[in-house]
Amino acid sequence: MKDKTTQDRVVLITGAGKGIGRAVAELLARRAEAAASPLRLCLAARTRSDLEALKTRLDSGSVNCEVVAGDLADAPTQPVEACVARFGRIDALIHCAGVGRFKDFLDQTAEDLEFTLKTNVTATFLLLQRTYALMQAQAPREGLRGQIQVVTSVAAEQPFLQSSTYCVSKYAQRGLLDVMKLYGRQDGIRILEIKPGAAYTPMWGEVPPEQLARMMTAEDVAQPMVDALELSSRAALESLTIRPLHGDL
Ligand SMILES: NC(=O)c1ccc[n+]([C@@H]2O[C@H](COP(=O)([O-])OP(=O)(O)OC[C@H]3O[C@@H](n4cnc5c(N)ncnc54)[C@H](OP(=O)(O)O)[C@@H]3O)[C@@H](O)[C@H]2O)c1
Repeated sequence: MKDKTTQDRVVLITGAGKGIGRAVAELLARRAEAAASPLRLCLAARTRSDLEALKTRLDSGSVNCEVVAGDLADAPTQPVEACVARFGRIDALIHCAGVGRFKDFLDQTAEDLEFTLKTNVTATFLLLQRTYALMQAQAPREGLRGQIQVVTSVAAEQPFLQSSTYCVSKYAQRGLLDVMKLYGRQDGIRILEIKPGAAYTPMWGEVPPEQLARMMTAEDVAQPMVDALELSSRAALESLTIRPLHGDL
């Protein structure tokens, strides 16, 4: 008999402790539970207490969570290794972990730049490279070797004031994903770039009520991401822009 865990869908979510990543985990778990469809979730972020609390909420008859606490800037491939050690494969990586320091161009320091690039660019590159290698080597399931979703931003293709280091990192992520799509088409690995506009999450800190009223929620962004996982394996959604109804802030 086959090991049961190798037949269940395995999803690794980075940035799962807060914001968009947490909303994706919650929605995936709700749908798995409703469909009584087995789901193995690897929840990665820096803050262990966030992940443990989420695991406690999501673990159920259908959903089984593993927590991987650590800083991607120090150990970019750790969540991948932990996920494979626990569940044997990765059907989907949903990479939501990301940072930003928002201030005027002339106030951005070398340390701000290094901090932002370390997580958003270097760690992202190494995390995706390791995941891709693993997916390329695994047997296809329902026509796909794997799916990789990366949350970049509308700031990956559009400049914003106070976002110089952030835009550098997000434009770089987009460049990487555009290259990966070329490989993904050859290998049956679906690559999706998600470009959200403003969604209210802990990344924003305090915002004035009139601004808050115009923003999306993390759940608004999570819903099309989870829907995209279910697309027919004959199709690849490669880019998804989702912004507030009345446009960018
Ligand atoms: N919210 C928006 O309006 C918006 C718009 C466009 C794009 N985005 C992008 O969407 C992604 C998610 O943003 P969000 O708004 O959900 O942010 P968030 O609420 O700040 O959550 C970010 C999550 O990523 C984790 N994380 C950050 N850096 C990490 C690192 N070096 N190693 C491991 N985990 C790390 C955080 O863990 P800890 O909390 O434990 O540190 C947290 O769980 C980011 O890439 C962001 O740039 C957001």
